[in-house]
Amino acid sequence: MARKIFVAGNWKMNTTIASGVALANGLKETIGSISEVDLAVFPPHVYLKSIAETLAGSQITVGAQTMYFEEKGAFTGEISAEMIQDVGCQYVLLGHSERRHVFGETDDVINRKVLKALAAGLKVILACGELLEEREADKTMDVNERQVKSALEGVEEAAMANVTIAYEPVWAIGTGKTASPDQAQEVHAEIRKLLAGLYDEETAQATRIQYGGSVKPGNAAELFAMDDIDGGLIGGASLKVEDFTAIVKAAL
Ligand code: PGA
Repeated sequence: MARKIFVAGNWKMNTTIASGVALANGLKETIGSISEVDLAVFPPHVYLKSIAETLAGSQITVGAQTMYFEEKGAFTGEISAEMIQDVGCQYVLLGHSERRHVFGETDDVINRKVLKALAAGLKVILACGELLEEREADKTMDVNERQVKSALEGVEEAAMANVTIAYEPVWAIGTGKTASPDQAQEVHAEIRKLLAGLYDEETAQATRIQYGGSVKPGNAAELFAMDDIDGGLIGGASLKVEDFTAIVKAAL
């Protein structure tokens, strides 16, 4: 089955309102009419509405970098699925390694967020990935299996149409050290096998698995050419119009 490549930019805690809008306008100009690849950007929460308005009418969709699983109430500092939809988001990124390792989000919390996001009608990018010491201890697949399996607990097969997995080895994020195409492909194939076991072969073949971790204009094409790599989740290189554009064009 031919899966449509999906390239997303995770801006993390970067940009100002002015530089974020300028970045979005730049991307709108260079890649805003590309429909052969699915495109999304994940700006900081406070800029979501402005960026969604800037990108309206283009092919680039907008997502939030996290959300909370409750609907409303006394959860100081948090935002809900409904709130991010209200400001123009179609996507939410969940399970990113920085949420797991800097902010201590557990598998259980991530699972509750995934269930809530899907129930609210958001599309989810679910990130997973092993630490360097876990890879060195031969625990790569154990860790990725545990993270994916627990995050998807209770997610019905039909809802998987709204889930993209992002495999992001933690040792490759922001380090300039990319997984080799073969290293990434090996894990992607294992994750797809896991999905076939959790659901069925058809669902596994239809689900997109992005690679993330130091993707750059110079290595994107060879990563995206691998059988089970269906695009990328881009951090640092998504902050420059020129670099993100080149990565998206590498997918064409
Ligand atoms: P990076 O980040 O491209 O800067 O390595 C990827 C990510 O964390 O999604």
